[in-house]
Amino acid sequence: MNRKQKLELTWIGKEQRPRLEPRILIEDPELSYHADRRVTDHDIFDNRLIFGDNLLALKALEQEFTGKIKCIYIDPPYNTGSAFSHYDDGVEHSLWLSLIRDRLELLGKLLASDGSIWISIDDHEMAYLRVLMDEVFGRRNFVAQCIWEKVYSPKSSARFLSENHDYIVCYAHDTEVWTRNLLPRTEAQDRAYKNPDNDPRGPWKPGDLSARNYYSLGRYSITCPSGRVIAGPPQGMYWRVSSEKLAELDRDGRIWWGRDGNNVPAIKRFLTEVIAGVVPETIWTYKEVGHNQAAKQHLKELLPEVEDLFVTPKPEGLVRRILDIASNPGDWVLDSFAGTGTTGAAAHKMGRRWIIVELGEHCHTHIIPRLKKVIDGTDQGGISEAVGGKGGGGFRYYRLAPSLLERDRWGNWVISKQFNAAMLAEAMCKHEGFVYAPSQEVYWQHGYSTEQDFIYVTTQTLTHEQLAQISEDVGDERSLLICCGAFRSKPGAFSNLTLKKIPNAVLGRCEFARDDYSLRIANLPPVPVSSEAAAEGHTEAAGAGHRRRRGSQAAVQEVAPTLPFGDDEPESADGESGDQG
Ligand SMILES: C[S@@+](CC[C@H](N)C(=O)[O-])C[C@H]1O[C@@H](n2cnc3c(N)ncnc32)[C@H](O)[C@@H]1O
Repeated sequence: MNRKQKLELTWIGKEQRPRLEPRILIEDPELSYHADRRVTDHDIFDNRLIFGDNLLALKALEQEFTGKIKCIYIDPPYNTGSAFSHYDDGVEHSLWLSLIRDRLELLGKLLASDGSIWISIDDHEMAYLRVLMDEVFGRRNFVAQCIWEKVYSPKSSARFLSENHDYIVCYAHDTEVWTRNLLPRTEAQDRAYKNPDNDPRGPWKPGDLSARNYYSLGRYSITCPSGRVIAGPPQGMYWRVSSEKLAELDRDGRIWWGRDGNNVPAIKRFLTEVIAGVVPETIWTYKEVGHNQAAKQHLKELLPEVEDLFVTPKPEGLVRRILDIASNPGDWVLDSFAGTGTTGAAAHKMGRRWIIVELGEHCHTHIIPRLKKVIDGTDQGGISEAVGGKGGGGFRYYRLAPSLLERDRWGNWVISKQFNAAMLAEAMCKHEGFVYAPSQEVYWQHGYSTEQDFIYVTTQTLTHEQLAQISEDVGDERSLLICCGAFRSKPGAFSNLTLKKIPNAVLGRCEFARDDYSLRIANLPPVPVSSEAAAEGHTEAAGAGHRRRRGSQAAVQEVAPTLPFGDDEPESADGESGDQG
């Protein structure tokens, strides 16, 4: 093997990466929402619901949120195959991998150094996703692959085995830094602690005195209070404590010999002394976190007016489990495949700050009405009771701004007519890496990169005299980047000014006028099957489809859309279990 080669997953089109335009986000106050009164002292109002393609949305968030998100949970389309049935298998996986990889890379930038990302996935792509995650986040940052029991009964229509679980794959930004929270103890767990001997220290649970780990002082005989002699620990095991320590524990009333004093001794573990929570495990049963059907039922009750209910929403309990382990109240949580808004709802009820992104129209038909009920405190389903969610707070609704540039009728790039002066200034700040902060007093301060470095954006043509005046105002201690329509002066004439023309300054930096990086494939025409090809068991046209799509997502996107990025599998015939997230 060539020394330079590394272990990696390759796929068609892997080398192609979108050159994303850093869009600005525009709030629509009509669709933003907040409670009409404060419910607690820590109500959160700056949550964000973003309508649009998540790749552009993540890029739009990059400047403000890099390194700030504590927990990301995504439930992307699983690539169940139904959406790609006309295409060569390799292309199907390749497209999915490219789409996910591009998003994971941006998500990785947003993660805080002590943050983690959790992804729902099933067996269709799980193995590929793991290798991809190793590549993006680093294999050393793998934390766990949890199994969620998503259905409660077998699917009689299953061709082979009835699949009743999904995976939730977790990577930390850095496992050296990340720590997990313990899970809150449940009543059922506490019920295992009893007090048969009325110990004043309260309820306790018997713990094994023997273990498999070798212990040099761990083999001795024990005489029970009843007089029975236990020759030693069970075969292949050792007592956990020495005989001296056992005697000491017994003197302190910490050994249980059974009601008759005749049992193999057990160490009493007192409820008051166990750690404050439970170490999370990797198998999550539906009894603990809910199943698909319960999630659907919750939505049905919450949104009775919505006819077209989502096939497989995730239960709030599942998101709660993730947020319990990986975040604390006030932390930023992000879900860029929001669906019906389960992450937003669960995060809101749990007092986390949240950002969710959804491209489909259900952003308006499902997410907004759902979140309004959470905020009004009228959603008492899901995890409301368990976490004491009483409503309050609010969210801001954003759309992605249009592309900064558009082509005029001669095919030249010009500033979009939809941009007003404020939008232009904000967009140029983003392009140039400045924080947009227009000054009320100083007309040439639209943003800053440091305390001494500012940006001024205007479509005007600036004369030498105007520039001289600005240069004098800026002075020797500060510097100013001017992005303008044109200027009549030598570029280096003023040492404290840098001059750039719009749109030339940004042309070529990224791809403009592309609004959707999702994969919209639901209405692709079926592949015509020639008789010879059918006899051979493959189609020429499928090959053509392969060639047409190879390395060119644009070709795919020209085809009429209905479903964004993949396809939800139809509800199962027996209605008991839905696959896919
Ligand atoms: C499996 S669903 C998520 C379900 C969600 N966890 C819930 O509980 O409701 C995936 C969602 O991602 C959305 N989506 C797919 N591609 C997207 C894209 N490029 N940008 C934004 N959202 C996208 C789909 O519209 C769909 O609603």
